[in-house]
Amino acid sequence: MEERIISREEITGDSFDNTIRPQYIKDYIGQDEVKENIKIFIEAAKMRNESLDHVLLYGPPGLGKTTLAHIIANELGSNIKTTTGPSIEKSGDLAAILSTLEPGDVLFIDEIHRIPKFIEEILYPAMEDFELDIVVGSDNNTRNIKIDLPPFTLVGATTRAGDLSSPLRDRFGIVSKLNYYSEEELMQIIKRTSRILEMDISDEACLELAKRSRKTPRIANRLFKRVRDFASVIGDGSIDVGITKDALKRLKVDKYGLDQIDIEYLVSLATKFNGGPVGIETIAASIGEEVSTIEDVVEPYLLQEGFIKRTPRGRVVTEKAKNHLRGMGLVIID
Ligand SMILES: Nc1ncnc2c1ncn2[C@@H]1O[C@H](COP(=O)(O)OP(=O)(O)OP(=O)(O)O)[C@@H](O)[C@H]1O
Ligand SMILES: [Mg+2]
Repeated sequence: MEERIISREEITGDSFDNTIRPQYIKDYIGQDEVKENIKIFIEAAKMRNESLDHVLLYGPPGLGKTTLAHIIANELGSNIKTTTGPSIEKSGDLAAILSTLEPGDVLFIDEIHRIPKFIEEILYPAMEDFELDIVVGSDNNTRNIKIDLPPFTLVGATTRAGDLSSPLRDRFGIVSKLNYYSEEELMQIIKRTSRILEMDISDEACLELAKRSRKTPRIANRLFKRVRDFASVIGDGSIDVGITKDALKRLKVDKYGLDQIDIEYLVSLATKFNGGPVGIETIAASIGEEVSTIEDVVEPYLLQEGFIKRTPRGRVVTEKAKNHLRGMGLVIID
């Protein structure tokens, strides 16, 4: 798939992330409730000299799950080992990672909903009793072995909390949902990035970027970076609102930060299905996207911004969406 500037997934060129990714809670902007809780749990674990309870972080892409996992390890003063659900294919893959853990380590499993079911079962005793139960040998010559693990903290991240089996979900003592960011918070994030990258940005320009970042820090930072390129080459080396609007126009980021899939979704709903209600499978099929992409990535923002509504009989398009599509020159009939 073509990489879009407002793609919510990580894309190449996000590598400057490592300099601007906050390392400690004090630099992590917004998500106040989540931060407050985690701070307390970390403090308590340290006081008791125990490992922190397992943490599950969920929410749409780019809101700071991976960042928070690293922050948790930093705040604990622990090492972090990282892996992803889809890369654990055999029980041996998981056993190999678990057996490298040192006391107090953080094991970060990204996309944890994509762990195969039979591997999840190895995780249960590992999480609950810090014990690894594995079967060794083959055919009729197998035996079970138990290995003690040091106390560790599993941090799982997922965009689909609903896809986690309940026995797995129940084994996380701390479950935190990350929410979309306010304009105010995004402005703080952009200001912070501008300080780190040493490129001034006016308040007005900052607000303009914040408005078009789909309430998502990853997108805010990415837009900042692209606008910075325009400012360095065409402008006078600082970012004002003129250069920002010009750059965003060239980058085809609309005033709500909607991308092509969002627009296709809305157009389909408004025209092919007369505004709805229509089921998600039908919309997904009509624009050739996966139901899971629509559900996890596209709809949350459209719902949040009032472009669509969910009803018991399916999705319906709102007046706001129709007006926006009309503003783009698309013919939308009432
Ligand atoms: N609260 C925050 N304060 C400042 N910057 C943030 C914050 N959250 C995220 N960021 C920035 O946004 C980028 C994307 O965040 P991150 O990679 O943690 O998202 P994610 O939720 O793990 O996304 P995905 O679901 O795609 O893995 C980070 O590199 C960081 O620079
Ligand atoms: Mg991540």
